[in-house]
Amino acid sequence: MRSPYQALYFEISGHCNARCAYCHSGVQRRANAKFIDVRTFRDVLQRLLDNKVIQRGSVISLYDWGEPFLHPHFREIVGIVNALGLRYAVSTNSSRPPVFDRMLVKNLDHIIFSMPGFSQESYNRIHGFRFEDIKANIDGVVNGIRKHGFRGRFMISYHVYRFNVGEMKACERFADERGIRFNPYYAILNHWWEMKAYLNNTLPEARRAAAERDLFTLEGIHQVLAEAPKSDYRCPQNNYLNIDENGEVVTCCQIPREHPEYSCGDALSGDLPAMLEKKVSQPVCKDCIGSGMAYFLNTALRRPYFYLPSFMQRVIHFQHALRRIERLGFRGLSVKIIKKVRRRPNAANKMKTVCACAPSGK
Ligand SMILES: C[S@@+](CC[C@H](N)C(=O)[O-])C[C@H]1O[C@@H](n2cnc3c(N)ncnc32)[C@H](O)[C@@H]1O
Ligand code: SF4
Ligand code: SF4
Repeated sequence: MRSPYQALYFEISGHCNARCAYCHSGVQRRANAKFIDVRTFRDVLQRLLDNKVIQRGSVISLYDWGEPFLHPHFREIVGIVNALGLRYAVSTNSSRPPVFDRMLVKNLDHIIFSMPGFSQESYNRIHGFRFEDIKANIDGVVNGIRKHGFRGRFMISYHVYRFNVGEMKACERFADERGIRFNPYYAILNHWWEMKAYLNNTLPEARRAAAERDLFTLEGIHQVLAEAPKSDYRCPQNNYLNIDENGEVVTCCQIPREHPEYSCGDALSGDLPAMLEKKVSQPVCKDCIGSGMAYFLNTALRRPYFYLPSFMQRVIHFQHALRRIERLGFRGLSVKIIKKVRRRPNAANKMKTVCACAPSGK
């Protein structure tokens, strides 16, 4: 049986070391934050496998609201992924990457590097890291992994703020030179309570002014909410399963921990079918859809209309699409496409730019 979910996000680290000004984890440090216990991680995955919620070969994204590479037992976490015949992905701020050896690469599916711009000024405003270190770390990860024959995806998720539009092409060039996919999309106010406060006009004035100065996605938001489809809207977050570092099934990635409907139950001991049913029928979702917020959250992470991908980016995108076709078992089809493209070198350029590795609602 195929998994009913397009992706599983399993938070292994409740901690983050960055100061991202518009991410909940960067704004508020949690006093009770923890890393997932390795045994809980294994037992939850085993249970999901036994119940066919995931299957061998499923890709587990080892993050949600924290920095996965901070986990002190990251190798053991990956060892479990390998032993269970699963694959894994990470999204990282690239500040503390591990050294990748054969074991860590074996079942790696893809890595996303989140970037808030391409200068020290932009890093000062958002992540708070030394920009040169981050570039060197990305190089170290990419080279270290490719050394082991990895042919999968690396992607830069470039968060587009008003202040970093002029840096996009420099970042794209950095990606082009390394064969990394460049995926720019608008940053959002990634903080449930602040978003509510913004909409209710209760966000402190200085914070409101800063957010409106930096983020494209607040412009015209009231109209987006008013015009959002509401009746019969099925939230795309239903396609994703989120489990936190305590092994709790989470309603969705947007709901913060202090929300009364944050959790649907314990993935280890709870009634799994009942929890999964609860996940798609929480009262909070009715309000979220009814206010237009669900529609906003699921559509705001768009690629800017003013971004035109370089030729190299189109080629990289095309290669990724071919590999996906191959992975789905249609190697013959991918060989046919390659032959066609070789006959018509412009064909890669004409392919529609729709990337399946786009961010999923975060
Ligand atoms: C909260 S982060 C956790 C993983 C890791 N710390 C990172 O930053 O990649 C999960 C995803 O949310 C995205 N994200 C974080 N803040 C965002 C924002 N303000 N707007 C849009 N996407 C954001 C990141 O690019 C990342 O892929
Ligand atoms: S976006 Fe990622 S790196 Fe930035 S604060 Fe949030 S969790 Fe940390
Ligand atoms: S409706 Fe809102 S709260 Fe419910 S899953 Fe979708 S985004 Fe999350």
